[in-house]
Amino acid sequence: MNVLFIGYGRMGGALGDAWLASGKVEQLSIVDPGIAPDAAAGRYGRLEDVPADQAFDVIVLAVKPGYASEALAGLSDRHCERAVVVSVAAGVTQGFLSRALGGRCPVVRAMPNTPVLVGAGCTGLYANEHLDNARRFIIGQLFEAVGAAYWVNEEEQLDAVTAISGSGPAYYHLFSEALAEAGIKLGLPPELARNLAAQTAFGAATLQHQAHADFTELRMAVTSPNGTTAAAIEVFETQKQLRELVMAATCAAHRRSVELSEGA
Ligand SMILES: NC(=O)c1ccc[n+]([C@@H]2O[C@H](COP(=O)([O-])OP(=O)(O)OC[C@H]3O[C@@H](n4cnc5c(N)ncnc54)[C@H](OP(=O)(O)O)[C@@H]3O)[C@@H](O)[C@H]2O)c1
Repeated sequence: MNVLFIGYGRMGGALGDAWLASGKVEQLSIVDPGIAPDAAAGRYGRLEDVPADQAFDVIVLAVKPGYASEALAGLSDRHCERAVVVSVAAGVTQGFLSRALGGRCPVVRAMPNTPVLVGAGCTGLYANEHLDNARRFIIGQLFEAVGAAYWVNEEEQLDAVTAISGSGPAYYHLFSEALAEAGIKLGLPPELARNLAAQTAFGAATLQHQAHADFTELRMAVTSPNGTTAAAIEVFETQKQLRELVMAATCAAHRRSVELSEGA
């Protein structure tokens, strides 16, 4: 498979490096003003420098959302001829991308998250009816090479994906920050408090990830009546405060995602 990346920063680089390492992609070309150009290695500073007669199977758009339109502007008809364009640009709609491409190729919107950097990502994918099943399968496989991938049927659902898994790693990091701070206040050395929080997050996530794991059952298994966990859970669950907070926070993220999409 012959893939062109437009933008090879944090997200583009994580995806491209993983796809090459997994053998899913044989030939990778990169356009990014921040890299050292080397045409023989398929590395270019500008899209205009990519040979106009080169065809690609997949073109990944991984620039900041505000640059999406100008970044696609230099694609030739030959670049697009058999390509599917996969955009990871948050909030940039499928309609906007199709217009920017002059309708020359099918478009997939992907919402990955930062754990793709360690092969434990979670990506929401959306494609309209122009994408055939064979290519849909291939794109799904590419994102499964960096974690889990889930297709949504409606483009608007990507706003909810953004609010849950796109921004989600930050919520867990915030909880770990709070847990580590609490550990320090309870008398632990900072490094130990940090390590306890991180290893506990990792262990809990690993348990949740087991087949058929039920979150409530996992929680109940740690919560003996009148024990230490029960004392803490009672505080979190007072008037369902934690759940209300999570609901309000994810609604705010969802609202912001909708606003960003409407601006694109
Ligand atoms: N990071 C995440 O967790 C995450 C999650 C989901 C989606 N995304 C999406 O992924 C996209 C990229 O985010 P990122 O965090 O990887 O940003 P990033 O690290 O800033 O990478 C973007 C890269 O694109 C380059 N670039 C700018 N204009 C270009 C152009 N016209 N042609 C080619 N390359 C160009 C930038 O170069 P310069 O720095 O020299 O301008 C930079 O190297 C964003 O749209 C974001 O919404 C990111």
